[in-house]
Amino acid sequence: MQMLTPQEVNATSIIANNLSPAQKVWLSGYLHALSVPSANADLESFTLNNSISIEASPAAKADTKQTVTVLYGSQTGNSRKIAEKFKTTLEAQGKEVSLHNMLNYRNSQLKKETNLVAIVSTHGNGEPPDEALGFFKFINSPKAPNLNNLQFSVLALGDSSYDEFCQTGYELDSRLAELGAKRLTEVVACDVDYADDAEDWKGTVLALLKPSEGHSTQNQSSVLSSANEAISENYNEQNPYPAEVLETLVLTDDGSDKNVMHLELSLEDSGLHYQPGDIVSIASPNDEILVDSIIQKLNLDADVEITLKKKTLVLKDALLNHCELSNVTRKQLQVYAELHSDDELLLLAKDKSQLLDELYAADILDVLELWPSQLSPQQFVEWLRPLSARQYSIASSESASPEEIHVLVKQVQYEYRGRLHGGVCSTHLALAESGEQLGVSIKTNPNFKLPENPETKVIMIGAGTGVAPFRSFLFERESQGLVGNSWLFFGEQRFQTDFLYQTEWQQFLKSGVLEKMDVAFSRDQAEKIYVQQRIIEQAESVYQWLASGAHIYVCGDMNHMAKDVHQALIHVIEQQSDRNLEQASDYLDQLISDKRYQRDIY
Ligand SMILES: Cc1cc2nc3c(=O)[nH]c(=O)nc-3n(C[C@H](O)[C@H](O)[C@H](O)COP(=O)(O)O)c2cc1C
Repeated sequence: MQMLTPQEVNATSIIANNLSPAQKVWLSGYLHALSVPSANADLESFTLNNSISIEASPAAKADTKQTVTVLYGSQTGNSRKIAEKFKTTLEAQGKEVSLHNMLNYRNSQLKKETNLVAIVSTHGNGEPPDEALGFFKFINSPKAPNLNNLQFSVLALGDSSYDEFCQTGYELDSRLAELGAKRLTEVVACDVDYADDAEDWKGTVLALLKPSEGHSTQNQSSVLSSANEAISENYNEQNPYPAEVLETLVLTDDGSDKNVMHLELSLEDSGLHYQPGDIVSIASPNDEILVDSIIQKLNLDADVEITLKKKTLVLKDALLNHCELSNVTRKQLQVYAELHSDDELLLLAKDKSQLLDELYAADILDVLELWPSQLSPQQFVEWLRPLSARQYSIASSESASPEEIHVLVKQVQYEYRGRLHGGVCSTHLALAESGEQLGVSIKTNPNFKLPENPETKVIMIGAGTGVAPFRSFLFERESQGLVGNSWLFFGEQRFQTDFLYQTEWQQFLKSGVLEKMDVAFSRDQAEKIYVQQRIIEQAESVYQWLASGAHIYVCGDMNHMAKDVHQALIHVIEQQSDRNLEQASDYLDQLISDKRYQRDIY
């Protein structure tokens, strides 16, 4: 084998060091394609941008239609959307495409696949989305087939502020390889701003799958650009709709430990629509005082120009509107330590538990105060993560409040290192006034939907702001003229100050739209009482509702409430049926697979 000369190694590493992870994957795919004579023969144009174009080789043009399976596992719809668009692109390339949600995929089909592209997000703390749980159980079971005939590529969606960044995608990639499948590309791990990396990945995969009969460059590039156009036609996170604030109302009373607000926004003429269970993304700038303090700490000129995503901006604008400042990730700290050759910080960044102890609530200003920056303005903004819109469960129903969207927001505010820290969006919303505009877009959430059959019973379990989607559910059921078959469990700290939407629930109970309601106010008595206790107290009825086909919905805190509710439900099933603990847990898993147990937890 002929190796590279030192000069060639040098030249290659200069190019590689300037590429994003997705671009590196693209490049490896490109080099791979060049090394395969049949694919290489006519690779006349293969450009590294969003509308990659490829000439089909004459040899490839003679090929028969190629079959590709696009498989996705999604909780909040991002992976699903990418998968659906990719299907259209692949079909326009002349491929025979089958698109599957992992939830509905027939696992026995896996051994017959030849080309698989999988798009999967990570949820919980490094766990698969609910709809992918069954598929992961299968591939990790002894029943998992040998996949020697399969070539595949995985796009992993995640958020690098989580320690288990894109864990599910990595797990899928390594498990498929373990089962004998061949990687078409390395796994591409996408952060919250996944659009560009996902586009690059799609381009690479397209290039590596053999072009099918009769499909040329023209076709592919036009399809890709029309896919991009379709994205920008509607309002989305990159292009949010400026929604006017119609009303704001603080729901918690004096004496509460929290500030929880109800906001009503106008969607007039936006063409935006949603269903109960969907999510609204709200964009907001960073706090200007924080931005000014950071600029001062950096000893920089607020008007100095920098480049972000190929756009020239002044530093203050970049920090106000484009860069995440309110938290810092472990990965970011490692990069910061490396840029400053700070071995002590590097050790700290690598030690997960020490880091959690010391910097559990740090923002970017804390980092600069603890380890002063020596970075240039350009290096500094490149080190920061992109500012992302914040997501809230929609609290209204379009049928009851046309062209409006309501949200329930808890203001995030805490003291850390002697300074008041606040959540980006919730702080902004706490100060929002009627008439002001906020950038919004809708995220459909197919994994949190009312049953298709209006007669099906619903059990809704929400703590704190987790009750928001159930307000939407009940207004929707009311506008459909439905009565009964609905049960709400609500938990908060205190009856007097924290009973969110109290009068509305009472109204729903009076009209019969809500059949039953159980509340748990944790701090109204010496012993803390939470929703899970109420579920256990009502075990017999809860099980009867389940046995008669009820759907269960859980919304709110992921780390405590949702886990405890899950255990409580297992307990109820074990106690009220003839199942043992394992069977009760399997019963609940089956409810997830059947979409009868849906969660929106965060
Ligand atoms: C409750 C919750 C937990 C999450 N946990 C993780 C995680 O452990 N690791 C990670 O990389 N991303 C995590 N994420 C980020 C998601 O993977 C990311 O938002 C992704 O784009 C969602 O894609 P989907 O809409 O297809 O589910 C989490 C998101 C939420 C809402």
